[in-house]
Amino acid sequence: MFYDSNHKKYGDLYEVYFGTRVIVLNRSEYVEKLLSASKKNPFITKLSEDDSKGFHELGIMGKGILLNQEFQSWVYNRHFFTQAILSPKFVHEVTYWTSKLFNELESYWDKLYINGVNKKAFDFNTWSNQFTNDMIISLLTGERSYTMASYFNGLSDNEKAERPSALIDETVKFVHAIRKHVLGFSMFQIVSPFLRHYFPYFKNKSDDMKQNLKYLNQRFDSIIKKRRQEIENTPLDKPLSNDMLTSVIIANTPRDVNYDKNVNEKSMRPMTDVEIRGIIFDGIVAGTDTSANTISYIVYYLAHNPDVKKKMLDEIDRVFEDDKTRPITESDIHNLKYCEAIVKEVSRIFSVVNSFARCLEKPEEIAGYQWPANTHVRISIDAIHHNSEYWEKPENFNPDRWMIEGFEPKKNSFITFGGGLRVCPGRKFAMVELVCLMALLFRKYEIDLINKEAPLKTLSSVITVCTELLVEIKLRN
Ligand code: HEM
Repeated sequence: MFYDSNHKKYGDLYEVYFGTRVIVLNRSEYVEKLLSASKKNPFITKLSEDDSKGFHELGIMGKGILLNQEFQSWVYNRHFFTQAILSPKFVHEVTYWTSKLFNELESYWDKLYINGVNKKAFDFNTWSNQFTNDMIISLLTGERSYTMASYFNGLSDNEKAERPSALIDETVKFVHAIRKHVLGFSMFQIVSPFLRHYFPYFKNKSDDMKQNLKYLNQRFDSIIKKRRQEIENTPLDKPLSNDMLTSVIIANTPRDVNYDKNVNEKSMRPMTDVEIRGIIFDGIVAGTDTSANTISYIVYYLAHNPDVKKKMLDEIDRVFEDDKTRPITESDIHNLKYCEAIVKEVSRIFSVVNSFARCLEKPEEIAGYQWPANTHVRISIDAIHHNSEYWEKPENFNPDRWMIEGFEPKKNSFITFGGGLRVCPGRKFAMVELVCLMALLFRKYEIDLINKEAPLKTLSSVITVCTELLVEIKLRN
């Protein structure tokens, strides 16, 4: 709202001071240079030296992908992450796990809301968060996570999930620690080192965050160690699981199908445990809330657009031929083009990530002005997605715009996944997960908002999260 009101007041280019000067760019022409995919001109820096000091203290800089701005290390880590996440086997895994976890979800919903008494209204968004948590942890680490089971146990008076409670507690502790890190690490950027070191309130909080990260690192390390052991104990001719952790452990080792091709390239050494921990951690951080909130927004927009919903249901029924139980396949996804158009249109009109950052390493000309080195730039996704020069009737929710043969958005005008060299490497995963989940949800359930007149409840920082989406479900037909 802050960016939006400034945009209306000051136009496509303005600056704000958040302790530091930030230039906000609101046109796709202005971001062309920053989002160039050329390796010669890589704008990969997100934070200035000053802004990253606290993160250095926490020990999260120069690792993983998300905040990594040491070029060689970022390129190396991103290479392994991308290779694993874009492999056909992994895409197959996403489809498989979406179906499998959806079966678990529907078993809880059927008990609570379909066959249960007086529990028809519930918060869809909390469930979508538990779902994407369990999804990302299973797919990235190969370890089962039971946050849906834990949430069900909290809601159900009598029946409990058929999972050992020690396993549930362990995964819930792990996921809570990840959440605590995600919600709290920015204090190392915002709160001055003096306050963090000497002022008891902030010192306690920052010590707690450091302790929390120590626990998370240990937990990741033990998962990685266990998996290395399992891989070593598996004969070379026996297949391994297709989760990201297994793929990155074996990448560029004799177990890797591309091993012979890569063996002479010196940059292609296998990853160390600390490097692996960094990329898996970042995948979990970046891939949970983004997908969870998008699916909530999809449910909201469909409830407000019955014509779109009807067209979507026709497509789903055509593809599944009214079969409400068979697992979803990759070929189904190719046939669910209208569902894909809905995901894109929701992401355009109400992008979960509302803006993203770059920091200029050297003086640059951007948007017709010369800026000094270290200038912070923020690219407003919302403003670009709502500009009538790039989008016909941008305020209209119209998935059909994506169905026009040969339709391509104007360059850099659809940037829900960012752009340039740092473009979201999880975008394919996200699209497959969201299309699958939409089809599975709407194939089986009729989902209505409890109060259609109520505005969407959200809270925005860098991402816009849904704080509650009360719905009512019943079986279709
Ligand atoms: C609807 C879902 C998602 C949205 C809207 C989204 C959006 C974004 C955006 C806007 C960026 C910043 C790009 C830039 O700076 O140019 C980003 C980065 C990233 N995303 Fe996603 N994302 C989603 C899902 C995922 C998933 C499922 C994963 C992983 C499994 C993931 C992993 C990452 C990573 C690792 C980065 C950092 C890339 C880098 O800095 O090089 N994202 N995402």
